[in-house]
Amino acid sequence: GLPAEVTIWEVGARDGLQNEKEIVPLEVKLEFLRRLADAGLVVLEATSFVHPKWVPQLADATELLAGLDQAPGVRYPVLVPNERGLDRALDAEVRDIAIFASATETFAQRNLNSGLDSQFAMFDPVVSRAVGEGIAVRGYLSMCFGDPWEGPVPVEQVVTAGKRLLEMGCFQLSLGDTTGVATPGHVEALLRAFAAAGVEVGELAVHFHDTYGQALANTSTALRHGVSTVDSSAGGLGGCPYAESATGNLATEDLVWMLEGLGIEHGVDLDALVGTSLWMAEQLGRPSPSAVVKALG
Ligand code: HMG
Ligand code: MG
Repeated sequence: GLPAEVTIWEVGARDGLQNEKEIVPLEVKLEFLRRLADAGLVVLEATSFVHPKWVPQLADATELLAGLDQAPGVRYPVLVPNERGLDRALDAEVRDIAIFASATETFAQRNLNSGLDSQFAMFDPVVSRAVGEGIAVRGYLSMCFGDPWEGPVPVEQVVTAGKRLLEMGCFQLSLGDTTGVATPGHVEALLRAFAAAGVEVGELAVHFHDTYGQALANTSTALRHGVSTVDSSAGGLGGCPYAESATGNLATEDLVWMLEGLGIEHGVDLDALVGTSLWMAEQLGRPSPSAVVKALG
C-alpha cells in the first residue's frame, strides 16, 4: 500500500546543476539551497566531490560547503566516488555522502573510468572509512532499467549490483533510471525482484529522470509498492553529462502535487518551491520543464 509519509531527496543542486554548461555562480547555488530549505525540504543533495575536470560545474564543492549556512534539521549529502573524494568531503566536514555505482559495464566505464566489477573495489574503502567516521552512506545505482549503449538491463543484474552496495554498508539504495526509459511495469518487476532477494522496501529509494515523460507514473508505481524515499529536482532540472539523452529528474513540484492529492505527508510548501524554481529558471535563462511550475507559476 501507499506510505503515510514520503521523504523527498532533493537533488536539484547536484543532479540538477551538474549538466549545466554555463558555470552557475557560487552565490546562486547557495541561494538555491537556502530557498529549498526554506520551502521545507529536509534532504538537499548539495554537490559532488568528483574530479573537477569530469564535472566542472561542481568544481566549487569545497567553497560551497564552506559558504553553506546549514539549516537546522536539514541534511546536505554529497556525491563521493573514491577515497580522494572522501578526503575532500571529510575536510569539508560533510556528514552524509553517496557513492554512485553502475548496473552496467559500459556506464561504469564512461561515468567512473572503472568497470562493473572493479567499481566496488573503488567504493569499498570509501564506505568502510566513512561508516567508521559515523557518516551515513547512500548507494546510488545507475542504469537500473536501460542503458543507452547496452539496451535493456536484466533485472537480476541490477539486483546483484544493488545488493552488493547494501552489503557494503550503504543504509539505502537509490534505483536510478538515468536516461528516463523506465515504465511502470518494469518498475514493478524490479521492485518485486528486490523483495524476492530479501531486500526490505524501506532500504530502497527511486530516482527517475523524465526523458520519456514516465517519471511520475513510475514514482506512483513505486509508492504503491511501499517505497517512501523519492529523489526529485526542483523545477525538473538535471541530467547526467556522461549518459546520452539524460534529461531532467522528476520535478519536485510534480511529485509534491501528486503526494498532496494522495494525502501523503511531504512537508513542502509548494508555493515557496514554485517560487524557487521560477527564480532558478531566471538565473539559468530558460523556463522550467515542470508541468506544475508552469501551471502555478
Ligand atoms: P580517473 O581519471 O580514473 O581518476 O577518474 P584517477 O583515480 O585515475 O585519478 C586521476 C587524477 O584525478 C589524480 O590526480 C587524482 O588525484 C585526481 P593526479 O595525481 O593525476 O594529479 N582525482 C580527484 N580529484 C578530485 N576529486 C576526486 C578525484 N579523484 C581522482 N574525487 C573518477 C575517476 C571516479 C574520479 C572520475 O571518473 C569522476 O570524477 N567521475 C564522476 C562522474 C560524475 O560525477 N558523474 C555524474 C554523477 S552520477 C549521476 O549523475 C547518476 C545519478 O544521478 C543516478 C542516476 O541518475 O542514475 C547519481
Ligand atoms: Mg540522476
